[in-house]
Amino acid sequence: MKEQLLELEKKALKELAAVGDPGGLEEFRVKYLGKKGLLTGFMKKVGALPPDERPGVGKMANFIKANLSEYIDQARGRMALKKEKRVSFFDVTLPGREPLRGHLHPITQVIREVCQIFSRMGFRIVKGPNVELDYYNFEALNIPKDHPARDMQDTFYISENVVLRTHTSPIQVRVMEAQQPPVSIIAPGKVYRRDSDVSHTPMFHQVEGLLVDRDVSFGDLKGTLTSFLHQMFGSDTALRFRPSFFPFTEPSAEVDIQCVMCGGEGCRTCSHTGWLEIIGAGMVDPEVYRFVNYDPEIFSGFAFGMGIERIAMLKYEIDDIQLFFKNDMRFLRQF
Ligand code: FA5
Ligand code: MG
Repeated sequence: MKEQLLELEKKALKELAAVGDPGGLEEFRVKYLGKKGLLTGFMKKVGALPPDERPGVGKMANFIKANLSEYIDQARGRMALKKEKRVSFFDVTLPGREPLRGHLHPITQVIREVCQIFSRMGFRIVKGPNVELDYYNFEALNIPKDHPARDMQDTFYISENVVLRTHTSPIQVRVMEAQQPPVSIIAPGKVYRRDSDVSHTPMFHQVEGLLVDRDVSFGDLKGTLTSFLHQMFGSDTALRFRPSFFPFTEPSAEVDIQCVMCGGEGCRTCSHTGWLEIIGAGMVDPEVYRFVNYDPEIFSGFAFGMGIERIAMLKYEIDDIQLFFKNDMRFLRQF
């Protein structure tokens, strides 16, 4: 009798494993545990057994019944879960979810690359304050209070004599104040202007450069910037030096790079000119030397300031400067 019971259980479990839907499960339940079910039939026969066999067999039959009921419930639960389209098993062979790994912001990456190139040419990296005295941001750069050049840059004023620096050029003055030539520095940092569209943001980054020594010429400036841009963008990059004006350099130039977005055809990124202005530069105006006690009869030098976001836009072909500051992970993860 016990062997028959075990045989029945084995058969039942095998069948249960093959049941795939709730209908089949109900059929299975009726077949074994229903009123006329196979296990129920067995249990009815227990009463007719000799008294010494009855407890053992009865206990075993009850145990099997309870087990089968439990298995049926479990199978029903799994089927319900599947219906809700949830994963019904934990699949240990699935690859794990990789944790998010952070990286440097693309602007930081470009600043580091620019600094690296100039470091290799012998420039020293220096920093200056974001909140700057009017004197360094304007006065000592030959931009007096009533000078029309102050209109070129819409300034955030903290107080009458304190501003958020509008460019990194005040660092030039601070460096020259502190040491006599020869001097060759670059200075990366944030700058602030009331300016906002696809190629302007109210806070952006510049890298300033300054080199003062004996016999420095405009040719040295052109050579230095050309070498830099060729290292940054590749030696076949089209660029042009265009005459310009800054109160603190004479002569002055702006450097444009051909718009990579449209290949120079003209598009919204380059305001339909085919070129993007990325660097302002020139020979340091002797007027500036007056403020820092350099002798213009002995020394000459050049200075430049570049927009890092513009460089990053050209390098990565990004057509909207605002993307750098929206903190959209889908954008940032690409770098
Ligand atoms: C200046 O700021 C001068 N200080 C540069 C300079 C330094 C000239 C040393 C001579 C000697 P400018 O305003 O043109 O110049 O800005 C320099 C660069 O900053 C521009 O070529 C441009 O690439 C970038 N830039 C200017 N305004 C914005 C803005 N709102 N958003 C993003 N980039 C800007
Ligand atoms: Mg400009």
